[in-house]
Amino acid sequence: MPADHRPILLSGIQPSGELMIGHYLGALKNWVGLQADHDCLFMLVDLHAITVRQDPAELRRRCLDFLALYVACGIDPSHSTVFVQSHVPTHAELAWVLNCFTYMGELGRMTQFKEKSQKQELNVSAGLFNYPVLMAADILLYQSHLVPVGEDQKQHLELTRDIAMRFNNLYGETFRVPECFIPPVGARIMSLQDPTSKMSKSDPNPRSYVALLDPPDLVRSKIKKAVTDSGTEVVFGNDRPAVSNLMTIYSSLTGHGFPAIEERYQGKGYADFKADLAEIVVEFLRPIQDRYHAIRSDKSELTAILKRGAEAALARSRPTVAKVYKKLGFIAAS
Ligand code: TRP
Repeated sequence: MPADHRPILLSGIQPSGELMIGHYLGALKNWVGLQADHDCLFMLVDLHAITVRQDPAELRRRCLDFLALYVACGIDPSHSTVFVQSHVPTHAELAWVLNCFTYMGELGRMTQFKEKSQKQELNVSAGLFNYPVLMAADILLYQSHLVPVGEDQKQHLELTRDIAMRFNNLYGETFRVPECFIPPVGARIMSLQDPTSKMSKSDPNPRSYVALLDPPDLVRSKIKKAVTDSGTEVVFGNDRPAVSNLMTIYSSLTGHGFPAIEERYQGKGYADFKADLAEIVVEFLRPIQDRYHAIRSDKSELTAILKRGAEAALARSRPTVAKVYKKLGFIAAS
């Protein structure tokens, strides 16, 4: 690969649940736009996914589904490095080292851990506890400059920065301290059933989200049944979280601003607005789904993408592990 002076950008999604319009508008759409002037690495973080039980056959299938969707949404694997985390052994290697530079107290304070461990009280694994350390390894391995993440991951990124600085202070410059990057146009999409919580692929109620692969009629019915606020007007505001969320989706997909949308639906009710929104979402998904089906059926191409991605990622991450091992005093094997 030729010398590349663009900032290094890294992000990832867990191959669990389904990819939804929330992921598209909050993450993938930005990734696609950032590809041109950043040196991008996009991961499928399967090692993170097993912090909760996964069905092996489903996990296997989903990794390829997600990869095909990345590509269908516009991630270009000949331009960006796209790979599966477990294909690149340096992630687990660096995670172990970083575990020795992270305090139990720090991990115990992570909001996501507290929430997840409350939900599953009985079987809280050490993996769930150490999850942010693996994430720190993902990021620090590639000397990343920028890590685009949603609000919910900011705390993990702060921890990554703390671990990097701690190690650098002890052993000299080793890791680049990454910046949290909340993309300027990232839309935060909320659940269709509860506009106070984020649209989530792990939501047990599939009516709360629109998956990128939902067929048109399912999209129409989910949007029609989305909760609305009391009142009838299509007006954006904090006191109307449900319709505001639908308006955010509408605005992100059409580029129309809120005043224009309000004007268009003045004197009309939620039903007209929802019917139009449903068609907008259906038409937005159609080309993505068409591309997805073409790519997903070409398994040898998908495998080839992952092979190239894993080789590139391994080659890029090895020097960081070598540097860390040397600083720690591990003797070289040869
Ligand atoms: N924890 C992230 C999430 O759930 C996924 C993730 C894992 C990630 N490793 C990462 C995101 C590294 C950015 C960079 O959304």
